Amino acid sequence: MKVIRTIAELRSEIQDRQQSGYGPVGLVPTMGYLHEGHASLMRKAREMSGTVVISIFVNPIQFGPGEDFETYPRDEARDVALAESEGVDVVFIPAVQEMYPQPTKTKISVAEITSLLCGASRPGHFDGVTTVVSKLFNIIKPDYAFFGMKDAQQVAVIEQMVRDLNMDVTIVPCPIIREADGLALSSRNVYLKPEEREQALVLSGSLRTAQEAIQQGQAATAGEIRAHLREYISRSPLADIEYAELLTFPELVPVEDSYRMVDGDSPVIMALAVRFGRTRLIDNALIQPKVGGSHV
Ligand code: PAJ
Repeated sequence: MKVIRTIAELRSEIQDRQQSGYGPVGLVPTMGYLHEGHASLMRKAREMSGTVVISIFVNPIQFGPGEDFETYPRDEARDVALAESEGVDVVFIPAVQEMYPQPTKTKISVAEITSLLCGASRPGHFDGVTTVVSKLFNIIKPDYAFFGMKDAQQVAVIEQMVRDLNMDVTIVPCPIIREADGLALSSRNVYLKPEEREQALVLSGSLRTAQEAIQQGQAATAGEIRAHLREYISRSPLADIEYAELLTFPELVPVEDSYRMVDGDSPVIMALAVRFGRTRLIDNALIQPKVGGSHV
């Protein structure tokens, strides 16, 4: 496995591997502090690609003022060891100066679907994401790029960008990886104090019980499910709900309270953002429409 820090060296390494006939290039973009969620993307990339590249870059332009750019957890040695154990071929770890030698005057901005959910409380965040992901696509020219459904809005935004700009890459969404007790893995979970960690289970718990309520016919409308999610999360005194929303996926159109869960053709996503002290957690689950009118 090669650890590469410059764009020039990365381009030449990928070109060499292409010329040697290694086959498709798979990219897993990350901000490091890698965990089993990231590892699952690397495994999927390994299955589908002859060359697996992961990037580790805490991208300053996707953090707002007052957010955790400075304190975002970092552990390069551990990350490199984990990538190696997953059979990654190239780890790209650029310095900020390498990616942004001068402040970027060009930004990629996806409209509409970036102004709700996480975009509402993090203005400019998705412009930062789509800009850095475009730069990585231009540098690496991957055939496949792997993204976790943990960040479902990010998947929708990147798929929109790729379609709108005819980018020659296939986006592969990958399932959410959870701790044994249900908490979705996140690099930011290390911020949680023990009591917050315990109460953070209300995110996955509310989604799981909502799915059960739908299956058992106890919740039939989007309004009932919204109410269920809010009620369940509010049982945790430390939880501060930022949003608990139902939208079509990947279009991200909010569904009306009166929307009956058997109505649509498009999957509906239940999307949550909840603060515990200074830590903001997100989670989501898809409700797939099923032929015959019930859900899986
Ligand atoms: P980061 O938060 O490091 O996440 C990197 C990738 O890992 C994302 O696609 C994310 O959805 C996925 N991931 C994180 N936790 C996961 C989990 N529990 N299960 C499955 N996948 C999970 O997302 C970013 O970085 C950045 O915005 C980035 C795309 C790298 C651009 O800077």
